[in-house]
Amino acid sequence: MTTLVTGGAGYIGAHTVRELRARGREVVVLDTLERGNEESVVDAKLIVGDIVDERLVTKICNKYEITEVVHFAAYKAVGESMTHPMMYWRNNVAGTISLLNTLIGQGVLRFVFSSSAAVYGTPKTSPVTESEPLAPESVYAETKLAVEKILASLSTNGMRSVSLRYFNAAGASSDNRIGEDWLTSENLVPRVMRALLDKSFQLEVFGNDYPTPDGSCIRDYIHVEDLALAHVKALEYLERGGETFVCNVGTGLGTSVFQMLDIATQVAQCSVPHTIGARRDGDPVSVYADPTLVRSVLDWKATHDLRSIVESAWNWHRTHPNGYR
Ligand code: WQD
Repeated sequence: MTTLVTGGAGYIGAHTVRELRARGREVVVLDTLERGNEESVVDAKLIVGDIVDERLVTKICNKYEITEVVHFAAYKAVGESMTHPMMYWRNNVAGTISLLNTLIGQGVLRFVFSSSAAVYGTPKTSPVTESEPLAPESVYAETKLAVEKILASLSTNGMRSVSLRYFNAAGASSDNRIGEDWLTSENLVPRVMRALLDKSFQLEVFGNDYPTPDGSCIRDYIHVEDLALAHVKALEYLERGGETFVCNVGTGLGTSVFQMLDIATQVAQCSVPHTIGARRDGDPVSVYADPTLVRSVLDWKATHDLRSIVESAWNWHRTHPNGYR
């Protein structure tokens, strides 16, 4: 039994590969390295290639006796998806269709998909349950919802899948071996770390006039290792014969931007240099998960608290100011 991890040289993919290997599973990684880092693939076979290469995927399935797939390979920058939509439709949707077609042809019928809470757009309420109306507000989010719908239709082909709707992944591996590259991320936590460590970088808080206790937006930050574990739990669920389903993966805790800055200040023992700017278009006021379904069906819950997330990020960025370069 071997698990194929597409996009396994990416941030969440690499952490999931390590979790799978730590549990003794055989893993093969397929990644173009267009945005991934070869150095982040630890203790697993890396094949550099594209999910659309049907001959290559077929060869991998046969040579390594692939029995299941965890699919991360996709572009994930919300802003870029709006300026380069066709890139996103081609890579995230057409590429996945090609991958699924090949897998079905090879009889590989267990599939875990990296989806996103972005499919909800601006939720009407938080905590967000899976029955929240689906209202994607970016091409990136549309591509994630499109793949979820494709997967929901494939039970006739025998394909069973779990789509995991991530909330805000953050942090780095507890052993500080792998982490995020702040040059390729627009997200809050890597930017907070950069503001602390790179004096040339200026962190802008996108608005402090929201209807929240401290005026800044609220999100559900989940440790990347907790997120990696959710993928293992999803594979185990499918191995037990579980049917196709979709669930949120979050802690259930809402944290504001200013609360995040406060924790980072405590961890780094240095205040986070920042300015207050205008609201960012498309930012929902408050988005955090209701994790009831993932807890009950996958028997998963987050174990890392916010301080653990920030400490792991601080350790990583402090010791790897240039990421993997
Ligand atoms: C978090 C909060 C910002 C940067 C995005 C995607 C989502 C998922 C996770 C892929 C917000 C504030 C941020 C900065 C700031 N990606 N912020 N200054 O927007 O919640 O989610 O990443 O699946 O699909 O939408 O994450 O980290 O960008 O922002 O004030 O320089 O931090 O306004 O309130 P977001 P984020």
